[in-house]
Amino acid sequence: MKLLVYSAQDFEIPFLKKANSSRYEVKYIPDALDTNTAIKAVGFEAISIFSGDDACLVVLEKLRDLGVKYITLRSAGYNNIQIKAAKRFGLKVANAPDYSPHAIAEHTVALLLALNRKIHIADRQVRSYNFEQKNLLGFDMLNKTFGIIGTGRIGSVLVQIMNGFGCKILAHDLLPNKKLVERYGVEYVDSEVIYERSDIISINVPLTNKTHYMVSTEAFALMKPEVLLINTARGAIVDTKALIKALDGKKIAGYAADVYEKEKGIFFKDNSAQGIADDPLKTLLAYDNVLITPHQAYVTKEALNNIAEITFENLDSWVKGEPCRNELGYETLVL
Ligand code: NAI
Repeated sequence: MKLLVYSAQDFEIPFLKKANSSRYEVKYIPDALDTNTAIKAVGFEAISIFSGDDACLVVLEKLRDLGVKYITLRSAGYNNIQIKAAKRFGLKVANAPDYSPHAIAEHTVALLLALNRKIHIADRQVRSYNFEQKNLLGFDMLNKTFGIIGTGRIGSVLVQIMNGFGCKILAHDLLPNKKLVERYGVEYVDSEVIYERSDIISINVPLTNKTHYMVSTEAFALMKPEVLLINTARGAIVDTKALIKALDGKKIAGYAADVYEKEKGIFFKDNSAQGIADDPLKTLLAYDNVLITPHQAYVTKEALNNIAEITFENLDSWVKGEPCRNELGYETLVL
Protein backbone atom coordinates (compact mmCIF):
# COMPACT_ATOMS: atom_id res chain seq x y z
CA MET A 1 0.00 0.00 0.00
CA LYS A 2 1.21 3.53 -0.84
CA LEU A 3 0.80 6.27 1.73
CA LEU A 4 0.88 10.03 1.10
CA VAL A 5 1.67 12.08 4.19
CA TYR A 6 0.25 15.60 3.93
CA SER A 7 1.60 18.49 6.06
CA ALA A 8 4.76 16.51 6.75
CA GLN A 9 7.13 18.56 8.86
CA ASP A 10 10.89 17.99 8.78
CA PHE A 11 11.05 17.31 12.51
CA GLU A 12 8.45 14.50 12.39
CA ILE A 13 9.63 12.68 9.26
CA PRO A 14 12.46 10.74 11.02
CA PHE A 15 9.93 9.42 13.56
CA LEU A 16 7.57 8.32 10.77
CA LYS A 17 10.39 6.70 8.80
CA LYS A 18 11.54 4.75 11.85
CA ALA A 19 7.99 3.57 12.67
CA ASN A 20 7.35 2.54 9.07
CA SER A 21 10.63 0.58 8.86
CA SER A 22 10.15 0.37 5.09
CA ARG A 23 6.96 -1.74 5.11
CA TYR A 24 4.92 0.89 3.24
CA GLU A 25 5.91 3.05 0.29
CA VAL A 26 5.56 6.55 1.74
CA LYS A 27 5.75 10.00 0.18
CA TYR A 28 6.05 13.01 2.46
CA ILE A 29 4.82 16.40 1.26
CA PRO A 30 4.72 19.70 3.18
CA ASP A 31 1.42 20.75 1.55
CA ALA A 32 -1.73 20.81 3.63
CA LEU A 33 -4.69 18.86 2.26
CA ASP A 34 -7.36 21.06 0.69
CA THR A 35 -9.40 21.30 -2.52
CA ASN A 36 -6.28 22.23 -4.53
CA THR A 37 -3.90 19.62 -3.12
CA ALA A 38 -6.29 16.62 -2.97
CA ILE A 39 -5.17 15.76 -6.53
CA LYS A 40 -1.70 14.93 -5.17
CA ALA A 41 -3.23 11.76 -3.69
CA VAL A 42 -3.60 10.18 -7.13
CA GLY A 43 -2.07 6.70 -7.00
CA PHE A 44 -2.21 6.50 -3.19
CA GLU A 45 -4.57 4.16 -1.37
CA ALA A 46 -3.92 5.83 1.98
CA ILE A 47 -3.23 9.35 3.16
CA SER A 48 -2.19 10.77 6.51
CA ILE A 49 -3.27 14.23 7.60
CA PHE A 50 -2.78 16.58 10.55
CA SER A 51 -5.01 19.11 12.30
CA GLY A 52 -4.28 21.93 9.82
CA ASP A 53 -5.55 19.85 6.88
CA ASP A 54 -9.04 20.36 5.53
CA ALA A 55 -10.91 17.11 4.89
CA CYS A 56 -14.26 18.67 4.06
CA LEU A 57 -16.95 17.00 1.96
CA VAL A 58 -15.64 18.26 -1.40
CA VAL A 59 -12.09 17.15 -0.60
CA LEU A 60 -13.26 13.73 0.60
CA GLU A 61 -15.28 13.22 -2.57
CA LYS A 62 -12.18 14.05 -4.65
CA LEU A 63 -10.07 11.65 -2.61
CA ARG A 64 -12.62 8.86 -3.10
CA ASP A 65 -12.65 9.52 -6.86
CA LEU A 66 -8.86 9.32 -6.90
CA GLY A 67 -8.97 5.86 -5.29
CA VAL A 68 -8.05 6.76 -1.70
CA LYS A 69 -9.51 4.27 0.79
CA TYR A 70 -7.88 5.07 4.11
CA ILE A 71 -7.21 8.28 6.05
CA THR A 72 -5.12 8.16 9.20
CA LEU A 73 -4.89 11.34 11.28
CA ARG A 74 -1.68 12.15 13.10
CA SER A 75 -3.75 14.04 15.67
CA ALA A 76 -6.16 13.29 18.50
CA GLY A 77 -8.63 15.99 17.42
CA TYR A 78 -10.65 15.28 14.27
CA ASN A 79 -12.83 18.38 13.87
CA ASN A 80 -11.15 19.01 10.49
CA ILE A 81 -12.65 15.91 8.85
CA GLN A 82 -16.30 15.36 8.00
CA ILE A 83 -16.62 11.84 9.35
CA LYS A 84 -20.19 11.39 8.10
CA ALA A 85 -19.18 12.27 4.53
CA ALA A 86 -16.10 10.04 4.76
CA LYS A 87 -18.30 7.11 5.78
CA ARG A 88 -20.71 7.87 2.95
CA PHE A 89 -17.81 7.76 0.48
CA GLY A 90 -16.60 4.44 1.95
CA LEU A 91 -13.40 5.96 3.34
CA LYS A 92 -12.05 4.48 6.54
CA VAL A 93 -10.78 7.09 9.01
CA ALA A 94 -8.76 6.68 12.20
CA ASN A 95 -7.09 9.14 14.56
CA ALA A 96 -4.22 8.95 17.07
CA PRO A 97 -6.20 9.40 20.29
CA ASP A 98 -3.78 8.53 23.05
CA TYR A 99 -0.31 9.33 21.71
CA SER A 100 0.68 11.37 24.76
CA PRO A 101 -1.89 13.08 26.95
CA HIS A 102 1.10 14.04 29.13
CA ALA A 103 2.67 16.13 26.35
CA ILE A 104 -0.47 18.25 26.05
CA ALA A 105 -1.19 18.43 29.78
CA GLU A 106 2.41 19.45 30.53
CA HIS A 107 2.33 22.14 27.85
CA THR A 108 -0.90 23.44 29.36
CA VAL A 109 0.90 23.79 32.70
CA ALA A 110 3.89 25.42 30.97
CA LEU A 111 1.54 28.03 29.48
CA LEU A 112 -0.23 28.57 32.79
CA LEU A 113 2.97 29.08 34.79
CA ALA A 114 4.54 31.29 32.12
CA LEU A 115 1.44 33.49 31.90
CA ASN A 116 1.03 33.69 35.67
CA ARG A 117 4.71 34.37 36.46
CA LYS A 118 5.09 36.63 33.38
CA ILE A 119 8.01 34.57 32.03
CA HIS A 120 7.46 35.91 28.50
CA ILE A 121 7.68 39.50 29.79
CA ALA A 122 10.69 38.77 32.03
CA ASP A 123 12.53 37.09 29.15
CA ARG A 124 11.95 40.11 26.91
CA GLN A 125 13.05 42.50 29.66
CA VAL A 126 16.29 40.77 30.63
CA ARG A 127 17.35 40.45 26.99
CA SER A 128 17.42 44.25 26.96
CA TYR A 129 19.25 44.20 30.33
CA ASN A 130 16.20 45.31 32.36
CA PHE A 131 16.33 43.31 35.60
CA GLU A 132 13.41 45.02 37.40
CA GLN A 133 10.51 43.04 38.87
CA LYS A 134 7.73 45.62 38.86
CA ASN A 135 5.79 44.09 35.93
CA LEU A 136 6.16 40.52 37.07
CA LEU A 137 3.61 40.01 39.85
CA GLY A 138 1.97 36.56 39.84
CA PHE A 139 0.19 34.33 42.37
CA ASP A 140 0.84 30.99 44.11
CA MET A 141 -0.94 27.95 42.69
CA LEU A 142 -1.43 26.51 46.19
CA ASN A 143 -5.09 26.61 47.31
CA LYS A 144 -6.30 28.19 44.07
CA THR A 145 -9.41 26.84 42.37
CA PHE A 146 -8.55 25.15 39.09
CA GLY A 147 -11.58 24.71 36.81
CA ILE A 148 -11.28 22.22 34.00
CA ILE A 149 -13.70 21.71 31.13
CA GLY A 150 -13.11 18.24 29.72
CA THR A 151 -11.62 15.48 31.87
CA GLY A 152 -10.82 12.95 29.15
CA ARG A 153 -7.32 11.65 28.48
CA ILE A 154 -5.56 15.04 28.61
CA GLY A 155 -7.83 16.57 31.25
CA SER A 156 -7.27 13.61 33.61
CA VAL A 157 -3.49 14.06 33.48
CA LEU A 158 -3.92 17.78 34.05
CA VAL A 159 -6.08 17.12 37.12
CA GLN A 160 -3.30 14.91 38.51
CA ILE A 161 -0.67 17.63 37.95
CA MET A 162 -2.78 20.48 39.34
CA ASN A 163 -3.63 18.35 42.38
CA GLY A 164 0.14 18.17 42.92
CA PHE A 165 0.25 21.98 43.04
CA GLY A 166 -2.33 21.92 45.85
CA CYS A 167 -5.23 23.31 43.82
CA LYS A 168 -8.90 22.68 44.57
CA ILE A 169 -10.30 21.17 41.37
CA LEU A 170 -13.70 21.82 39.78
CA ALA A 171 -14.53 19.95 36.60
CA HIS A 172 -17.17 19.91 33.93
CA ASP A 173 -17.64 16.98 31.54
CA LEU A 174 -20.52 15.14 29.88
CA LEU A 175 -19.10 11.95 31.45
CA PRO A 176 -17.75 12.60 34.96
CA ASN A 177 -14.78 10.42 35.91
CA LYS A 178 -15.37 8.76 39.30
CA LYS A 179 -11.68 7.95 39.74
CA LEU A 180 -10.81 11.65 39.64
CA VAL A 181 -13.45 12.32 42.30
CA GLU A 182 -12.10 9.54 44.54
CA ARG A 183 -8.37 10.21 44.03
CA TYR A 184 -8.21 13.99 43.78
CA GLY A 185 -11.47 15.20 45.35
CA VAL A 186 -12.59 16.65 42.02
CA GLU A 187 -16.03 18.27 42.18
CA TYR A 188 -18.08 17.98 38.97
CA VAL A 189 -20.21 21.07 38.38
CA ASP A 190 -21.98 22.94 35.55
CA SER A 191 -19.80 25.05 33.27
CA GLU A 192 -21.35 28.21 34.78
CA VAL A 193 -20.01 27.21 38.21
CA ILE A 194 -16.54 26.70 36.68
CA TYR A 195 -16.70 30.21 35.21
CA GLU A 196 -17.89 31.78 38.49
CA ARG A 197 -15.60 30.06 41.00
CA SER A 198 -12.30 29.34 39.24
CA ASP A 199 -9.01 31.24 39.53
CA ILE A 200 -7.69 29.28 36.55
CA ILE A 201 -9.77 27.70 33.77
CA SER A 202 -8.44 25.13 31.33
CA ILE A 203 -10.28 24.04 28.17
CA ASN A 204 -9.75 20.38 27.29
CA VAL A 205 -12.85 19.36 25.33
CA PRO A 206 -12.89 18.53 21.61
CA LEU A 207 -14.28 21.03 19.12
CA THR A 208 -17.83 19.91 18.30
CA ASN A 209 -21.04 21.73 17.41
CA LYS A 210 -21.75 21.77 21.18
CA THR A 211 -18.40 23.23 22.23
CA HIS A 212 -18.01 25.71 19.35
CA TYR A 213 -17.84 29.19 21.01
CA MET A 214 -18.62 27.56 24.36
CA VAL A 215 -16.52 30.29 25.99
CA SER A 216 -18.66 33.24 24.91
CA THR A 217 -19.49 36.76 26.08
CA GLU A 218 -21.92 35.21 28.59
CA ALA A 219 -19.19 32.94 29.96
CA PHE A 220 -16.70 35.82 30.29
CA ALA A 221 -19.35 37.86 32.16
CA LEU A 222 -19.44 35.17 34.86
CA MET A 223 -15.66 34.92 35.35
CA LYS A 224 -13.60 36.45 38.16
CA PRO A 225 -11.53 39.42 36.90
CA GLU A 226 -8.34 37.70 38.15
CA VAL A 227 -8.95 34.45 36.26
CA LEU A 228 -6.37 33.02 33.83
CA LEU A 229 -7.92 31.13 30.90
CA ILE A 230 -5.84 28.45 29.16
CA ASN A 231 -6.84 26.77 25.91
CA THR A 232 -4.80 23.91 24.51
CA ALA A 233 -7.78 22.17 22.86
CA ARG A 234 -9.08 24.00 19.78
CA GLY A 235 -9.23 27.74 19.05
CA ALA A 236 -12.90 27.92 18.07
CA ILE A 237 -14.06 26.73 21.50
CA VAL A 238 -13.33 30.31 22.57
CA ASP A 239 -15.13 33.14 20.74
CA THR A 240 -12.14 35.32 19.79
CA LYS A 241 -14.13 38.56 19.49
CA ALA A 242 -15.66 37.98 22.93
CA LEU A 243 -12.19 37.17 24.28
CA ILE A 244 -10.75 40.45 22.98
CA LYS A 245 -13.65 42.37 24.56
CA ALA A 246 -13.11 40.52 27.84
CA LEU A 247 -9.40 41.39 27.80
CA ASP A 248 -10.13 45.02 26.91
CA GLY A 249 -12.79 45.25 29.63
CA LYS A 250 -10.48 43.54 32.18
CA LYS A 251 -13.11 40.80 32.68
CA ILE A 252 -10.23 38.29 32.83
CA ALA A 253 -6.57 38.69 33.84
CA GLY A 254 -4.95 36.74 31.03
CA TYR A 255 -5.24 34.19 28.25
CA ALA A 256 -2.80 31.56 27.06
CA ALA A 257 -3.40 29.23 24.15
CA ASP A 258 -1.67 26.73 21.90
CA VAL A 259 -4.46 27.05 19.36
CA TYR A 260 -6.33 29.75 17.50
CA GLU A 261 -9.74 29.93 15.88
CA LYS A 262 -8.35 30.59 12.39
CA GLU A 263 -5.06 28.71 12.35
CA LYS A 264 -5.48 27.63 8.73
CA GLY A 265 -3.01 29.40 6.46
CA ILE A 266 -1.12 30.97 9.39
CA PHE A 267 -0.03 28.24 11.81
CA PHE A 268 2.52 25.55 10.90
CA LYS A 269 4.59 27.96 8.79
CA ASP A 270 6.95 30.93 9.13
CA ASN A 271 5.10 34.15 8.28
CA SER A 272 7.79 36.45 9.68
CA ALA A 273 8.80 37.87 6.28
CA GLN A 274 5.34 38.66 4.92
CA GLY A 275 3.45 39.16 8.20
CA ILE A 276 -0.15 38.08 8.81
CA ALA A 277 -3.47 39.65 7.79
CA ASP A 278 -5.57 38.25 10.65
CA ASP A 279 -6.48 41.32 12.72
CA PRO A 280 -7.96 39.55 15.78
CA LEU A 281 -4.80 37.42 16.07
CA LYS A 282 -2.62 40.54 15.73
CA THR A 283 -4.69 42.19 18.46
CA LEU A 284 -4.23 39.20 20.77
CA LEU A 285 -0.48 39.08 20.13
CA ALA A 286 -0.17 42.72 21.13
CA TYR A 287 -1.39 42.12 24.72
CA ASP A 288 1.20 41.47 27.42
CA ASN A 289 -1.32 39.28 29.25
CA VAL A 290 -1.80 36.97 26.26
CA LEU A 291 0.58 34.13 25.48
CA ILE A 292 0.19 32.10 22.31
CA THR A 293 2.25 29.13 21.17
CA PRO A 294 2.05 27.71 17.63
CA HIS A 295 0.12 24.46 18.24
CA GLN A 296 3.26 22.86 19.64
CA ALA A 297 1.83 20.95 22.62
CA TYR A 298 2.33 17.63 20.79
CA VAL A 299 5.94 18.41 19.86
CA THR A 300 7.77 16.10 22.25
CA LYS A 301 9.95 13.16 21.27
CA GLU A 302 7.61 10.73 23.01
CA ALA A 303 4.47 12.13 21.39
CA LEU A 304 6.00 12.17 17.89
CA ASN A 305 7.24 8.63 18.34
CA ASN A 306 3.81 7.44 19.45
CA ILE A 307 1.99 9.35 16.68
CA ALA A 308 4.26 7.65 14.13
CA GLU A 309 3.71 4.19 15.65
CA ILE A 310 -0.08 4.68 15.78
CA THR A 311 -0.17 5.95 12.17
CA PHE A 312 1.31 2.70 10.87
CA GLU A 313 -0.59 0.56 13.37
CA ASN A 314 -3.84 1.99 11.92
CA LEU A 315 -2.68 1.10 8.40
CA ASP A 316 -1.59 -2.40 9.51
CA SER A 317 -5.08 -3.12 10.89
CA TRP A 318 -6.75 -2.07 7.64
CA VAL A 319 -4.28 -3.97 5.44
CA LYS A 320 -4.75 -7.14 7.52
CA GLY A 321 -8.53 -6.68 7.48
CA GLU A 322 -8.55 -6.56 11.29
CA PRO A 323 -10.65 -4.13 13.40
CA CYS A 324 -8.80 -0.81 13.79
CA ARG A 325 -8.98 0.31 17.42
CA ASN A 326 -8.77 4.00 16.47
CA GLU A 327 -11.32 3.97 13.66
CA LEU A 328 -13.78 6.85 13.93
CA GLY A 329 -17.45 5.97 13.59
CA TYR A 330 -20.75 7.80 13.45
CA GLU A 331 -20.74 8.27 17.23
CA THR A 332 -17.75 10.60 16.83
CA LEU A 333 -19.50 13.13 14.62
CA VAL A 334 -18.26 16.67 14.98
CA LEU A 335 -18.82 20.02 13.24
P1 NAI B 1 -10.83 12.88 25.08
O1 NAI B 1 -11.83 12.45 24.07
O2 NAI B 1 -10.07 11.83 25.82
O3 NAI B 1 -11.55 13.81 26.19
C1 NAI B 1 -12.46 14.82 25.86
C2 NAI B 1 -13.44 14.95 27.02
O4 NAI B 1 -14.32 16.03 26.69
C3 NAI B 1 -14.29 13.70 27.25
O5 NAI B 1 -14.22 13.34 28.62
C4 NAI B 1 -15.69 14.14 26.84
O6 NAI B 1 -16.72 13.52 27.61
C5 NAI B 1 -15.64 15.64 27.10
N1 NAI B 1 -16.62 16.41 26.30
C6 NAI B 1 -16.88 16.31 24.98
N2 NAI B 1 -17.85 17.18 24.63
C7 NAI B 1 -18.18 17.86 25.75
C8 NAI B 1 -19.12 18.88 26.04
N3 NAI B 1 -19.93 19.37 25.10
N4 NAI B 1 -19.21 19.34 27.31
C9 NAI B 1 -18.43 18.81 28.29
N5 NAI B 1 -17.53 17.83 28.09
C10 NAI B 1 -17.40 17.35 26.83
O7 NAI B 1 -9.87 13.88 24.33
P2 NAI B 1 -8.38 14.31 24.74
O8 NAI B 1 -7.42 13.32 24.21
O9 NAI B 1 -8.34 14.63 26.18
O10 NAI B 1 -8.21 15.64 23.86
C11 NAI B 1 -9.04 16.78 24.04
C12 NAI B 1 -8.81 17.73 22.89
O11 NAI B 1 -7.53 18.31 22.99
C13 NAI B 1 -8.81 17.07 21.50
O12 NAI B 1 -10.12 16.89 21.00
C14 NAI B 1 -8.03 18.06 20.69
O13 NAI B 1 -8.90 18.98 20.10
C15 NAI B 1 -7.13 18.76 21.70
N6 NAI B 1 -5.72 18.42 21.48
C16 NAI B 1 -4.83 19.43 21.26
C17 NAI B 1 -3.51 19.16 21.01
C18 NAI B 1 -2.49 20.24 20.78
O14 NAI B 1 -1.44 19.96 20.21
N7 NAI B 1 -2.71 21.45 21.24
C19 NAI B 1 -3.03 17.76 20.91
C20 NAI B 1 -4.03 16.78 21.25
C21 NAI B 1 -5.33 17.11 21.49
